[in-house]
Amino acid sequence: MKTINIGIIGYGVVGVGVATLLTQKKKLLEARIGAFLTLKTIAVRNISTDRGVELGNTVLVNDAMQLVNDPDIDIIVELIGGDTTAKQFILKALENGKHVVTANKALMAGHGNELVKAARKNQVDLAFEASCGGCMPIIKSLRESLVANDINSMSAILNGTCNYILTKISQDGSLFEDVLKDAQKLGFAEAEPSLDVDGHDTAHKLAILNSLAHGMEINLKDIHVEGIRNITPIDIEFAKSFGYTIKLLAIGKVHGDHVEARVHPTMIPNTNPLSHVEHSMNAIVIDADATGKTMLYGHGAGMMPTASAVLSDIADIARNIISNTARRVPILGYPEDNIKRISILPMDELYTRYYLRFEAQDHPGVLSQISGILGDNHISIKSVHQKGRQSNGKVPVVMITHIAKEERVQTALTQIYATDSVVGDPIVIRIEEDS
Ligand code: HSE
Repeated sequence: MKTINIGIIGYGVVGVGVATLLTQKKKLLEARIGAFLTLKTIAVRNISTDRGVELGNTVLVNDAMQLVNDPDIDIIVELIGGDTTAKQFILKALENGKHVVTANKALMAGHGNELVKAARKNQVDLAFEASCGGCMPIIKSLRESLVANDINSMSAILNGTCNYILTKISQDGSLFEDVLKDAQKLGFAEAEPSLDVDGHDTAHKLAILNSLAHGMEINLKDIHVEGIRNITPIDIEFAKSFGYTIKLLAIGKVHGDHVEARVHPTMIPNTNPLSHVEHSMNAIVIDADATGKTMLYGHGAGMMPTASAVLSDIADIARNIISNTARRVPILGYPEDNIKRISILPMDELYTRYYLRFEAQDHPGVLSQISGILGDNHISIKSVHQKGRQSNGKVPVVMITHIAKEERVQTALTQIYATDSVVGDPIVIRIEEDS
């Protein structure tokens, strides 16, 4: 049997998971792949820390370039994250004719087009199943299983930290900051919390998935991104009373020649299966023309689930190597010449329903002033809900709209904010009726 040599750059949580699977599942992998997978070298900053994995002949080094330039290594697995040194290592590995596996969503979202070009130039594979949705086989599903489908829409929960925070606030009334600290302790939050709670991590993943679904260049910069910092227990309680749940959703939809791509807190009815995805779990509903709706659900982070996704890429590449079929499946699901530049629909053009919450002054005429401004902007109100006066003398007023245009809603909110009927910024949560 052929031996395929692997080098891992980064020996943190996921690196340890990958090394563990390569060691513990050696026999199973050999039987399934028909080759020996040898973990030749691991690059790690501190080579003396014992991570508890029985590594046998694997060598630990602290210079990643040593692996990248090692002519015996076939596959480089990049697990350091970030988009600076990781990019340099990957580009150099590709240039040296090595296949690359990465779990790096920020790098793929921000620089994926450049990496895909470099892989093409050097006729090697670049695989990134672990970059989106942890162990859910979403990349493979979009690239391979759904090849005969037009993808009409995707709605997904792709950030375990935000899902965990929203679940805990909803179930136990926990405080945002406390739950965020828990998520950091549990190991699925990013070192930089803003990546999670401000929606950027979800946007990275949506940029990658949109590209695969629609044959478009990876486009991160035009995705509308909002996080969950403004979501309060009051909004969660209102949502519950309507039979809805608030989730941070990544939404990608086709609109003629454009694609809609947005990340924001979303109210979904409790009949939507995504509303039941709790804690740090991830899920995606893909609506495709031949299949109808397909849902994937799984751990979006964590040592072994993420390592499992990395191993699926290693196995694909190993199989390509032994059958001499490198690049059998195009990196973004379409041969590079067929990848288009498809524009993302400007957010102002979005039509949807809205939950609007105002902190209103408790005096006559306030409701009519707010609803008058909404009416002037062609926004039709479906229902109005009011809670009792708060200790600060203000009254939370919620309005649910019929379908309205985002641009008009934003204009109306600016006008309402300028009146003395409300205090503070209104809370806006878009409503998706169907997954
Ligand atoms: N911080 C990410 C999350 C890790 O919370 O889902 C997985 O990408």
